[in-house]
Amino acid sequence: MRNYMMGAAVAFCSLLPASHSLAWSGSVLVSTPNTSLLLHANEGEDLRFAFFGDRIEENQIHQIHDAWDGLNRTAYPTFGSPANQLFALQAVHADGNWTTDLTVDQVETTEEDNAKLTAITLKDKAYPFQVKLYYRAYKDIDMIETWSEISHTEKKTVVLKRFDSGHFMIRRGDVWISHLHGSWGDEAGVTTEPLTPGIKLIENVDGARNTHIDHPEVMFSLDGKPQENEGRVIGAALCWSGNYAIRMATDNNFVHRIFAGIDSETAEYNLAPKEVFATPKLALTYSQEGLSGASRNFHRWARHAGMLHNGNRVRDILLNSWEGVYLDVDEEKMSQMMEDIAAMGGELFVMDDGWFGDKYRRVQDNSSLGDWVVDKKKLPNGLENLVRTAQKNGIKFGIWIEPEAVNSKSELFEKHPEWALQAPGRSLIYGRGGTQLLLDVCNPEVQDFIFGVVDNLLTRHPQIAYIKWDANIELRNYGSTYLPRDKQSHIYIDYHRGLEKIMQRIRAKYPDVVIQACASGGGRANYGVMPYFEEFWVSDNTDALQRIYMQWGSSYFYPSNAMAQHISAAPNHQTGRVIPIKFRCDVAMSGRLGLELQPSKMTEEERAQSTQAIKDYKTVREVIQLGNLYRLVSPYDRKGIASLMYTDDAKGKAVFFAYKMDNFVNQVVPRVCLRGLDPLKNYRVRELNVKTGNRPCFLDGKTFSGRLLMNTGIELPLGGDYASCVLELTAE
Ligand code: DGJ
Repeated sequence: MRNYMMGAAVAFCSLLPASHSLAWSGSVLVSTPNTSLLLHANEGEDLRFAFFGDRIEENQIHQIHDAWDGLNRTAYPTFGSPANQLFALQAVHADGNWTTDLTVDQVETTEEDNAKLTAITLKDKAYPFQVKLYYRAYKDIDMIETWSEISHTEKKTVVLKRFDSGHFMIRRGDVWISHLHGSWGDEAGVTTEPLTPGIKLIENVDGARNTHIDHPEVMFSLDGKPQENEGRVIGAALCWSGNYAIRMATDNNFVHRIFAGIDSETAEYNLAPKEVFATPKLALTYSQEGLSGASRNFHRWARHAGMLHNGNRVRDILLNSWEGVYLDVDEEKMSQMMEDIAAMGGELFVMDDGWFGDKYRRVQDNSSLGDWVVDKKKLPNGLENLVRTAQKNGIKFGIWIEPEAVNSKSELFEKHPEWALQAPGRSLIYGRGGTQLLLDVCNPEVQDFIFGVVDNLLTRHPQIAYIKWDANIELRNYGSTYLPRDKQSHIYIDYHRGLEKIMQRIRAKYPDVVIQACASGGGRANYGVMPYFEEFWVSDNTDALQRIYMQWGSSYFYPSNAMAQHISAAPNHQTGRVIPIKFRCDVAMSGRLGLELQPSKMTEEERAQSTQAIKDYKTVREVIQLGNLYRLVSPYDRKGIASLMYTDDAKGKAVFFAYKMDNFVNQVVPRVCLRGLDPLKNYRVRELNVKTGNRPCFLDGKTFSGRLLMNTGIELPLGGDYASCVLELTAE
């Protein structure tokens, strides 16, 4: 079948605004600077997916077709056309018909500021039911966002049983996937495996957070075992904070079929006539520069396309009180901590859990969530005094909240027990502290309450510059007292739509307050919430050795200024491991640097080294936080070291990190070749965060050509246990 058309786009008269133009029926080429996605959209036929990969031009469309002998597949398969295929959409129509048969109705394109939006309307052959598929291609970023909008004008509700955001195909071959898998304290571990026949399903059923175990993102390496800097890679990220399913099906066909969307197994959606159901975005990228190349595309998109709030701003260096005092917050300790972090050169202090509660005071983790008033016994002079102390010390002030949750031991629960999610006739299933519940964020009154928590804090204390927004409980009680009977199946969806509404209100009023997404650590590192948050807490596990693995995995999809990384105490509170302070600093410095310990318990050496780390970090933080990441030697490859680096866009400055992962006599570790430099430039090396009392390493002060650094490589100054180094490279 030769169902493509060649030639120039024909704009013909339409009733659409001037910024729209109806494109021609035929081939639809969606392109970014270096990638293209090719669809065949012939009016009255089903939409076909032909290709996603290296960029092609309009006049080369026929070459793809000729080279592949017309290999293409239905782009958005539906149940029933035919019934024996995997599908992206399943709808039960108002008359009970389970089948849907969509064909192309029209193609529209809209020019946006930095992107081109293509919308393809598919209509059912027999029912007033339609799906609009969107493809947004960025003009200066290699990212395509795709999603669907489902609507109808049937006489009654249509039941959506599956509603994927997108579907695409990858030619079978030696295709491998890398995805992030873990647990509390071990988030974002990289799991790598070949795509073999059968169905591989990555899903989440937590209900409220979705990245503790598996992330809604996958990398596909098309040329065999994944390499950090070589080979073709397709990256996919589902921008959703709730339950999801990513299905990868390999049957007796030539292709792997990838389906991604909200998990519909537990969330069928009753769609009223004229209501529009919009699925979350699925972001797709392609790179010929290995996993690191695909990551750089995600980072650029996150920072510049608004997928990370204030994504292109550098972040402050902070001290968080949690591991320093836990719930034992009081005015004296907070004030002392502020003085200490200011003296070390820090810029922000964040008071964590433990500051609130009146009738029920937050002295243990089993009460007070919901009662967002200051505990006057702990803080007799209120937040006002803390904010003043911060100002006196020349630093900013931040605060912890967990506004989606409530304890049964709270004034809020006494007043509004119906605001907690609950199943009728069932006993409540509690979480943390034996009393914690989740509020019904589907309910607009609850949304107003949560917005009010933030609004009250920020109107009363406009000096608050940072909020740590925690979420320590899954959705355990399935039932909403607000939603009607026929919408109880919407809870997993409406919860997250409610959360989005709250965040949109907060962001409209408070665009500049930095907000961290925390969820018992890294449970909310997803592009569903990141458009409203500046950063996420990578993990509650602050052990520097294990952090190298978690930060490595997180960086597959998230830029470094979104990754909160803190220097903590030794022995580490989660693993008990004793790691030298320089190594702890060097690991935290590779992302958004902070501290999380009690400064008054630091040794002289720890204080001196951390002060040095903060000082040096300030001189290079722009390159680290906003630069281009090259992962060089993976800790997962077990070569005894891990190494990564950042460069600025002009290739004038770079920051290099290396860590010794284990230590043996006669251990041969790799000589490391750097990346992303200009081969024709010469770079002068300066060692940063030199170990207190030591002389800088042998590389310090030397100059090397970019070519030598990249093609020949450097030996690492990593002698001994837990050795590490941070080098600044400056073009001369
Ligand atoms: C879980 C978070 O991940 C921790 O950092 C801390 O904020 C606690 N919650 C406080 O309860």
